[in-house]
Amino acid sequence: VSTPLRALGPDELPPPFPEDPFGGFFADGGGPGAAPPGLLDTPGAHHWLGLIRETMAADRYTFQQTLEGRSGARVTVGGRSMLLLSAYDYLGLIGHPAVEAAALAAVRSHGTGTGGVRLLTGTTDLHRALEEEIAAFKGVGAALTFGSGYMATLGCVPALVGPRDHVLVDEYAHRSTVDACVLARARLHRFAHNDPDALARELDRVPAGRRALVVVEGVYSMDGDVCPLPDIVALKERRRFHLMVDEAHSLGVLGATGRGVDEHLGVDPRDVDLWMGSLSKAIPSNGGYVAGSRELVYYLQHGAAPFMFSAALCPAAVGAARASLRVLAEEPERLDALRRNAARLREGLRGLGYDVGGSESCVVPVVLGDEERTLAVARGLFDRGVLVSAVIHPAVAHGQARLRLCATAAWTAADVEEALDAFAAVRPPARLRVAGA
Ligand SMILES: Cc1ncc(COP(=O)(O)O)c(C=O)c1O
Repeated sequence: VSTPLRALGPDELPPPFPEDPFGGFFADGGGPGAAPPGLLDTPGAHHWLGLIRETMAADRYTFQQTLEGRSGARVTVGGRSMLLLSAYDYLGLIGHPAVEAAALAAVRSHGTGTGGVRLLTGTTDLHRALEEEIAAFKGVGAALTFGSGYMATLGCVPALVGPRDHVLVDEYAHRSTVDACVLARARLHRFAHNDPDALARELDRVPAGRRALVVVEGVYSMDGDVCPLPDIVALKERRRFHLMVDEAHSLGVLGATGRGVDEHLGVDPRDVDLWMGSLSKAIPSNGGYVAGSRELVYYLQHGAAPFMFSAALCPAAVGAARASLRVLAEEPERLDALRRNAARLREGLRGLGYDVGGSESCVVPVVLGDEERTLAVARGLFDRGVLVSAVIHPAVAHGQARLRLCATAAWTAADVEEALDAFAAVRPPARLRVAGA
């Protein structure tokens, strides 16, 4: 029986965004009667193409370096061995024999691809096992995996909220969360970073009776600080919102056994409605997951678009992810090494006068402020055999350009000292301090 079509009432029309979530990045210069602008006539394209041209002309373009072989503490770039300081492989599991063996075994038993999407013919016993293991690891009822962490967020947020709902997002949240809100056409609110009072004030702006989803991150990917989860959970008890935590950088890293920010801060994982994470960081594979109650997961298996419109994780990725979770439990010394290296790196950089912000995890930013200076320092380190990621606008706010270092258990103590020596040599530290920092 088909439902007759009817016009939408004014209250049912999608509300506009309260602000342009991309700050005019995609705006074009066309006006009424003007010829349509070209495909690359946007502020975003002009910004990037100009910057690429300038940095290449100044020989400061260090992005997209081609690694010839595995990632790790040492990588080969252009035939040269380099110390890598910015890989997400926090536990140093890339190249772990058990992880590689599991990936190869999965290819032998299940092939290179599943030939299907998860809802139809792409679900294998390996996927089921991984999802049960993730749910058990996170201490919740169930989990489901997606092709990437980005896809997990892009899949679950629009499945759960729509134009009548409000999503309140920490201002430092990852781009995937903002994109998911755009796709959901939900009302997007941003609140001051890691500030539960600012969140409470923003909640006051949500009309009574409307649903509110709050999204925070376990560890913020550009700053390395940790969300105040106990305060947010306490606020949730009073204000009745729904809570999603992105653990891309806290899974396998925070907590006594690497279970994440809940373990680190003593929060019951069931107090969070939606755990999301990546399988491409501490877990050196590919993919993402969402974990929560069984009912939520049953729904998302049918309601999250990528689960039926995008291919299932390939068996090798599933095998590697499962083995990594096992290694994490069997080799706790990796967490110790990671924390030791991160602490020494932070302390050493501070000692040299660098601004590492409020980092309290394995993500260690070196905030240099100015984009040109940041690119120049990245290039200076590159010339000294040290590969780092420079992060500039729009990934961070203007004036907040930085090198983003990621500690790893793969470094030896000597590697960390070598990194610090390179930072000491690259320029006099006093000139690198951000004004006012
Ligand atoms: C905070 C955060 N969320 C989500 C993602 C997306 O994860 P993935 O790389 O698995 O797509 C990232 C990736 O860097 C991230 O930093």
